[in-house]
Amino acid sequence: MQALTTTRTGSGLQIRIDGPDWWRGAIGYEVYVRSFADTNGDGIGDLPGITGKLAYLADLGVDVVWITPFFRSPGFDHGYDVSDYCDVDPKHGTLADWDALAAEAHRLGLRLFVDIVPNHSSSHHAWFKAAVADPTGPYRDYYLWRDPAPDGGPPNNWVSHFGGPAWTLDPGGSGQYYCHLFLPEQPDLNWANPAVMEEFARILRFWAGRGADGFRIDVAHGLCKDPSFADNPQLRPVTPGMHPMDVFASFDHVHDLHRHDTAVLFRQWRDAVHDHGSVLLGEMDTRNVERFAEFVADDTALHAGFVLQLGLGPWRPAHIVDTILEYQEKANGGCAWEVSNHDQARAVSRFGGGDVGLGRTLAVSTLMAALDGMFFLYEGEELGLPDATLVGHVEDPMSARNGEGLWTRDVARGPMPWTTGPLNGFSQAATAWIDTAPLPPDLTVEHQQADPTSTWHRYHALSMLRRTYPELWQAPFELLHHTDTALVIRRGSLLVVGNLGPDAMQTPELAGATLLFQSRDQAFSDGEAPLVAGESTVVVRAGG
Ligand code: NOJ
Ligand code: CA
Repeated sequence: MQALTTTRTGSGLQIRIDGPDWWRGAIGYEVYVRSFADTNGDGIGDLPGITGKLAYLADLGVDVVWITPFFRSPGFDHGYDVSDYCDVDPKHGTLADWDALAAEAHRLGLRLFVDIVPNHSSSHHAWFKAAVADPTGPYRDYYLWRDPAPDGGPPNNWVSHFGGPAWTLDPGGSGQYYCHLFLPEQPDLNWANPAVMEEFARILRFWAGRGADGFRIDVAHGLCKDPSFADNPQLRPVTPGMHPMDVFASFDHVHDLHRHDTAVLFRQWRDAVHDHGSVLLGEMDTRNVERFAEFVADDTALHAGFVLQLGLGPWRPAHIVDTILEYQEKANGGCAWEVSNHDQARAVSRFGGGDVGLGRTLAVSTLMAALDGMFFLYEGEELGLPDATLVGHVEDPMSARNGEGLWTRDVARGPMPWTTGPLNGFSQAATAWIDTAPLPPDLTVEHQQADPTSTWHRYHALSMLRRTYPELWQAPFELLHHTDTALVIRRGSLLVVGNLGPDAMQTPELAGATLLFQSRDQAFSDGEAPLVAGESTVVVRAGG
């Protein structure tokens, strides 16, 4: 059962949901730690920077703050290569800074998700160093080692997300290869070895005992590999100069990802955090709703997984409608919805840029707020940020290692624009870790909070709506009507109309209803058959 606790914060209503299912209605916010707020002037975001902005997040109406990895790391993949899972990297602060952050978050009624990276460690981790140094020792089996193919090359055709084969020769000279689905500096852990689960159970309990309320699990869908290590079927030819993401997508990842035994493993994860009541949220790039549903089955697997499909590719209204209906129906209510994160172009840019892209993003966000499960904003989404304009060298290893001119995740990783001052108030340094063009004043927090018509206020109103009307995510989901590009949903006394097509739509279901929220300004008539504008969503209360 969920209980609601209501408090007032600076600009609104803070309703904290309690009980084991609290996460189901939660609004999450992803903080990309490097780019959120820098307090010591080194140009890199840090934990005290986040602490200083928690009141801002509470005001926005956020429940959960997911912080990207801040553990000790040599930084080959900006923190997703961890060399000590139980310590804070000095470039982001100290364990005492984490404790202060957790205390302040909980004082404000916020919850914290720590980003655990279990598919791989850093090659600088003591486990990997020991595995290389002693091929007969206990740490060897923490990783995935295979003999070469008969021609001396990699053991199979698996490729890395970041380009090239997923195999690198043992630097210790054993002649074996180790597996890495990402960089060679990110060796994959062997989840068939129970000792690895024991290590991570300890790590999860360490952070849960120190104030983490849940975990975002990196590459959750990839932990188990097929013990046969067979070749993946190839779907299309790989041509020279292809983007590594396209090369990766040219194979059917039946043997290295999405494996059923991962669902079985998640039961052990669930057991590991049971006493702490932590929530487990997987990064779940399965693209297969049946497998997704196995991974988030009630009580036996993860609580929820990210539905990543809406965060990829250009504006495709029919794909958005299909994905929503499919996951809403089949995914056990274990969805975390999002349209942007630190690995993809921002939704405003992907959906057409400018006012058009912003309008479409808001329409989809409004729909997401009316679905089961959590929905997440990515830092700056509440300001309607488009992709950053990059002016310096490329930071993202995926593109930096594969030649100039490749699309780079850097576009989503620019500093958060707080003020109109230097570096938009992100840092007192002369330059930030990533070099991006300054943003215009109207995209800053300072400007938008002062302007009641701003995008910030629209997102704020949306989060208040989800809090004030829990029916929006709790009441039975009834699909009254849909087309390829539009949905009319009833949730208790509320009706939600998402019209992602280009033209205004007549909606007789809304006759006599009272408007509660609209994703963009439009003349909304409550006559016989109210019109809902194209590429927008409205939420109304039925019958006045
Ligand atoms: C997914 C993370 O979101 C991404 O940033 C990272 O590069 C890979 N996993 C590898 O850890
Ligand atoms: Ca810093």
